[in-house]
Amino acid sequence: MTTASSADHPTRRDFLFVATGAVAGVGAALTAWPFISQMNPDASTIAAGAPIEVDLAPIAEGQDIKVFWRGKPIYISHRTKKQVEEAKNTPLKDLPDPQTDEQRTKPGHEQWLVVVGICTHLGCIPIAHEGSYDGFFCPCHGSVYDTSGRIRQGPAPTNLPVPPYSFLSDTKIQIG
Ligand code: FES
Repeated sequence: MTTASSADHPTRRDFLFVATGAVAGVGAALTAWPFISQMNPDASTIAAGAPIEVDLAPIAEGQDIKVFWRGKPIYISHRTKKQVEEAKNTPLKDLPDPQTDEQRTKPGHEQWLVVVGICTHLGCIPIAHEGSYDGFFCPCHGSVYDTSGRIRQGPAPTNLPVPPYSFLSDTKIQIG
């Protein structure tokens, strides 16, 4: 993956990961535990809105996964080069809710699309990799979204929202 990784701009969280790994590496597991438990809030805290971390490494190109954040389904798509190109090359005039693909992805991580999986029409859950744009299809009333989660056909008025998220490393994001 070619990205401007967080290694270029280490954050405090990156440091904590490194520190945790280093401590665990010398066998002081008890010392490491407080760091680990701090970074993994319990289920009730997550349900109340805490950020969640998602490991992207197991998601193969062309695959999608669904996770839950604040009780909402979040689709994470590992887009193929073809999907990225199609999303980037779509003229804004063809979009009911004009947004560039760049506005909906993170620089250097364009292969990843992260969207709230709730149809903006009446709230059904769209199906990934369905519909004539190979993006998302909402079976309730036929809204079709493209590979950037932008509405292309049907009654939905706006694109699938992009939740707040950031890359902690090339293969890990934090949502929220
Ligand atoms: S809820 Fe998705 S098209 Fe109506």
